[in-house]
Amino acid sequence: MGEFELQMPHKRNSLSGDDYRKDYSTMSLFTVDETKCKHDGICADICPRGLIEMKDDDSLPVPTSVAEEMCSRCGHCVAVCPHGALSHTAMTPGQCPPVRREWLLDQERVEHFLRSRRSIRNYKNKKVDRDLLTKLIDIARFGPTGGNSQPVQWRVIYDTEEVQRLSEMIFAWLSQCMNDPEQENLIKKFSHTVAAWERGEDRISRGAPHLIVTHAPKDSPGALSACTIALTYLELASPSLGLGACWSGFLHEASKVWAPLQKALSLPEEHECFGAMMIGYPKYAYQRLPLRDEPMISWQ
Ligand SMILES: Cc1cc2nc3c(=O)[nH]c(=O)nc-3n(C[C@H](O)[C@H](O)[C@H](O)COP(=O)(O)O)c2cc1C
Repeated sequence: MGEFELQMPHKRNSLSGDDYRKDYSTMSLFTVDETKCKHDGICADICPRGLIEMKDDDSLPVPTSVAEEMCSRCGHCVAVCPHGALSHTAMTPGQCPPVRREWLLDQERVEHFLRSRRSIRNYKNKKVDRDLLTKLIDIARFGPTGGNSQPVQWRVIYDTEEVQRLSEMIFAWLSQCMNDPEQENLIKKFSHTVAAWERGEDRISRGAPHLIVTHAPKDSPGALSACTIALTYLELASPSLGLGACWSGFLHEASKVWAPLQKALSLPEEHECFGAMMIGYPKYAYQRLPLRDEPMISWQ
């Protein structure tokens, strides 16, 4: 595994739970190895909240008086130091994998990778191993979150019969919308999906064997963005594990208003669903990159 320790999803920090809180309050926020520090001040310059001070050119970086309270544990100070001199209570240089520049993609590859992402709506009749789904989530969790708040939690609907049960609930919600004259826009949009379900065709969860739901505390600032980005990472990462994914806008919308679905999901108290995806093995491989509208750009 190399010299760094892989962080598993349940390990929020190098120290976890009570240990983490106890040590966090008694240790200095970070320590600097005098033998390695070159006094270049990069850590102070990079800290997003200005929590690192260099008293003068020869001194070691020190935390400001508000650093303990204000630090978001983003790890930039550890990640940027060219000498591996700074060790934070939340992470040491040895725990943070080195950036492998030779693995970074050039512009053409990035463009091709992003353009080849597809919403996958046809799945093989095959379950995905739990370890593989855990691996996928373990990649997706590295998306940016406001103030490094990391509010995203994951619910995997693993049981395919449960996926079907939730889809039936979403169908019931769609049917109810269809009978509501005030929902004129929705009626037009959903009528084909409802009609398809009635003739035995699942255009709600598309026969996916599993669903992945993201949730977070309702009042957590930036939770919607964090969950949206996390699921975007998840969709982009899926093909690297042989998997395919598709947003389930239906599940997300229904989860906001449809009590039977809310009850079936039984998310933790004060949590809300902020997005969901279907996941499984793709039945078909795409051969071309479809076209999209030209970008509408204005300059100011
Ligand atoms: C927020 C959001 C919700 C979506 N919900 C659904 C959905 O419920 N069912 C579905 O089949 N596709 C859904 N999609 C996928 C879009 O239809 C798809 O991204 C679009 O048609 C473009 O195709 P592509 O993703 O392959 O480029 C959703 C996409 C987004 C971004």
